[in-house]
Amino acid sequence: MVAIKLTDDIYWVGANVHTEDLFEGIWPIPNGVALNSYVIKGEKIAIIELVREWGGAALTLLKNLDSISIKLSDIDYIILNHLEPDHTGFTYLVNSLSPNTQIISTQKGVELVKAFYQIENNLNAVKSGDSIDLGNKKKIEFVEIPNVHWPETMVTYEKNSGILFSGDAFGAFGVHQGCIFEDETSDESKPYWEEEMLRYYANIISTFSSNVLSAIKKLSELKINMIAPSHGLVWRSSPEVIVKKYKRFSNYNKDYAEPAICVVWGSMYGNTEVMLNSVLRGIGKSGIPMKVHRLPNEDPSYALSDAYKSAGLIIGAPTYEYGMFPPMKYFMELLKKKRILYKKVLYFGSYGWSGGAQKDFEKLTENMHWDVLKPLTFNGYPTIEQLEKGEKMAMEMAQQVKDIPSKINDEDY
Ligand SMILES: Cc1cc2nc3c(=O)[nH]c(=O)nc-3n(C[C@H](O)[C@H](O)[C@H](O)COP(=O)(O)O)c2cc1C
Ligand SMILES: [Fe+2]
Ligand SMILES: [Fe+2]
Repeated sequence: MVAIKLTDDIYWVGANVHTEDLFEGIWPIPNGVALNSYVIKGEKIAIIELVREWGGAALTLLKNLDSISIKLSDIDYIILNHLEPDHTGFTYLVNSLSPNTQIISTQKGVELVKAFYQIENNLNAVKSGDSIDLGNKKKIEFVEIPNVHWPETMVTYEKNSGILFSGDAFGAFGVHQGCIFEDETSDESKPYWEEEMLRYYANIISTFSSNVLSAIKKLSELKINMIAPSHGLVWRSSPEVIVKKYKRFSNYNKDYAEPAICVVWGSMYGNTEVMLNSVLRGIGKSGIPMKVHRLPNEDPSYALSDAYKSAGLIIGAPTYEYGMFPPMKYFMELLKKKRILYKKVLYFGSYGWSGGAQKDFEKLTENMHWDVLKPLTFNGYPTIEQLEKGEKMAMEMAQQVKDIPSKINDEDY
């Protein structure tokens, strides 16, 4: 790809990255990820976000700049909305190759530039309300939105065009597949983006949901014509859609989840799996949407996404060495870290002698604001009665989840 025009003298110059690496060293990105970067050409030139040298991204950025006749040394300002290295890894090299380019970030951001890249020159701290006039009717203003996703986070707003360069906020996993704008994507690609937006949110942002809501409130004072995040699509025609989506996502851990059930299970020798089948049958009878994930066979990233979205969560896992089956314990720790709160939850699992999984389960449910049903544990292979009970409990739970009055009002979001 070459640079893509957002509007007069404002371009996307980012890179679509496919890599064997996991995002943040944890999350699989089989569909890759877009590292968006933008150039504003006034009399002065600013670039918003740099990429990381990752899957050829740094070279792509340079080539994209080439395509609009910009050399690194032509750039007056590098704007770093936040310092996570997916958007800043290239900073040291750029600073070496273009020693007069000024680096702009919040005060905390500047401290991180020093810490991460041992850069001491050309550092400029800005705060909310500060602006830079680039000339030729291009003026950028900064708004701090702390903790979306890191503490030093800000957004950059270009006043004349009304484009909000929002950093990680409003982002998604997944490469562009040819279209960077939401209004260019085909109907066929909508599920791809829906899934990758939610998974990005659940994996990366959900911990900071209350900060997302504060940021949305703060940003509502701006007249936004386009949202250009640092990952995912550029929202050119309908920026309000991604704001509504993010509002909706940020309420999923506030008792506003979707009427659906996510089942996450693991089993060593099949006893827990026998009960799983009864549980699934119970849910199936209710007709409620259901997603099922097996751990560790599937990556927890996907289970996390569905667990976050769904009002009902069912966890099935046996006892392993006096505690919870380790892949499930890790998953439950992720649920805690990512603040997957306010769910209706059922646990089931098999044990051989002492048990222990239930004890871990109970510990891991503390402070999660979960409505936990009576656990269904059984010794070895479940009896017919236990299987019938499992099916009945799951059916009743599914019915309750189905009947939760929806607090989601699409008009509001
Ligand atoms: C490696 C391993 C460790 C186990 N540790 C315990 C244990 O500490 N306490 C216990 O009650 N059962 C323990 N068990 C027994 C299992 O919990 C029991 O066999 C259960 O039925 C397994 O369920 P599954 O077939 O769904 O894997 C262990 C089994 C294995 C294979
Ligand atoms: Fe980030
Ligand atoms: Fe990012």
